[in-house]
Amino acid sequence: MLPMDLRAVMPALSGKLYFNYGGQGPLPTPSLEAMVACWAELQRLGPFSRDVWPYLEAEVGALRQRLAGLCSVPPHRLALTENVTTGCVLPLWGLPFDQGDRLLLSDAEHPGVVAACKELARRQHLEVDWFSARDCRSDQAVLAGLEQQLQPRTRLVVLSHLLWNSGLPMPITAVAQRLAQHPQHPFLLVDAAQSVGSLELGDVPAAADIFAFTGHKWCCGPEGLGGVAVSERVLELSQPTVIGWRSLSDETSAGSPWHRDGRRFEIATSCVPLGAGLRRSLDLLDEAGNAAQREARIQALSRRLWQGLQQIKGMKTLLQEAPPPSGLVSFTAQKHQPEAVVNALADQGFQLRSLEDPHCVRACTHICTTEAEIDALLGVLANFSAAA
Ligand SMILES: Cc1ncc(COP(=O)(O)O)c(C=O)c1O
Repeated sequence: MLPMDLRAVMPALSGKLYFNYGGQGPLPTPSLEAMVACWAELQRLGPFSRDVWPYLEAEVGALRQRLAGLCSVPPHRLALTENVTTGCVLPLWGLPFDQGDRLLLSDAEHPGVVAACKELARRQHLEVDWFSARDCRSDQAVLAGLEQQLQPRTRLVVLSHLLWNSGLPMPITAVAQRLAQHPQHPFLLVDAAQSVGSLELGDVPAAADIFAFTGHKWCCGPEGLGGVAVSERVLELSQPTVIGWRSLSDETSAGSPWHRDGRRFEIATSCVPLGAGLRRSLDLLDEAGNAAQREARIQALSRRLWQGLQQIKGMKTLLQEAPPPSGLVSFTAQKHQPEAVVNALADQGFQLRSLEDPHCVRACTHICTTEAEIDALLGVLANFSAAA
């Protein structure tokens, strides 16, 4: 299946020009059909029947295997979650902190994750420090910023794999190596909301202690299903936070009752058919090209957009020196607020979004984006600028 064949089975893309893949990906019809088929099978076998359990177990096992494979970690290191945020928060809140320990966050993290860290700090009497990533334009600059802010009591570092605002990937493996040299060996939490499904992941997930992602963005799966790859030491040291029957290995045990594997961070009843949909979406992406080929296509498309923006007077891309090596292109319009640009574009069928910090417009390109869509967007932006 070519990217354009994939596009043809995404009803959400017809009749509009879609540039919000970093917010949510369109669901292919075969993925929707896979979910419906799974639901139908659950009903055929009978919910909560003797015969349904092996089917459910096989479905969940296949999903865990698939997402672990995506992250190149063994399945026992993978917990199934609902979204990126729960993937970050559930293992994070169970880590052993002592009063006075410090959390070091990059200045480019998502508000939900930041809020969870601040509340954790408030409850456990920890300190929060910040290092700069948002305005860094090289790995060296990120590593230097980290170095400056690392302290003897730093116990956790939070850094996104791919910054949701600038579209720059972060040097996660180098950060992990640096943290391993620190006397406390701080935990490394990686928000992978924007990288999973858009970048070739390589050894990045395995280098992090907590690598949290979702299926509903670049993987084009259904909303409500994600995963988190955790390190062996997180499995050993982090206690489950929100606890339910799925966290338990033995419901009657008097000792530590938690699963020793990623299931310790799973909670209770969830929607199994979503997994069939996500697996189908991942298969469809694979049919359109391997991860390296998909990343190259995404980059080529975002480069076309970035280069076009350089030609429009009054438009300024967030990255000035070079195009983003990812599908996220952020920019501002000299004479208009980002919200006004997004609204004016929506009037003409273009779906983009504004970001608060930095205050800008963001356009995303995925493998199913067409050159014609990009050129149409550039054309409308040029007219918009000229009319201002
Ligand atoms: C970088 C980043 N982190 C976290 C989130 C929140 O994702 P979720 O709703 O899956 O928790 C988003 C969503 O846009 C994001 O871009």
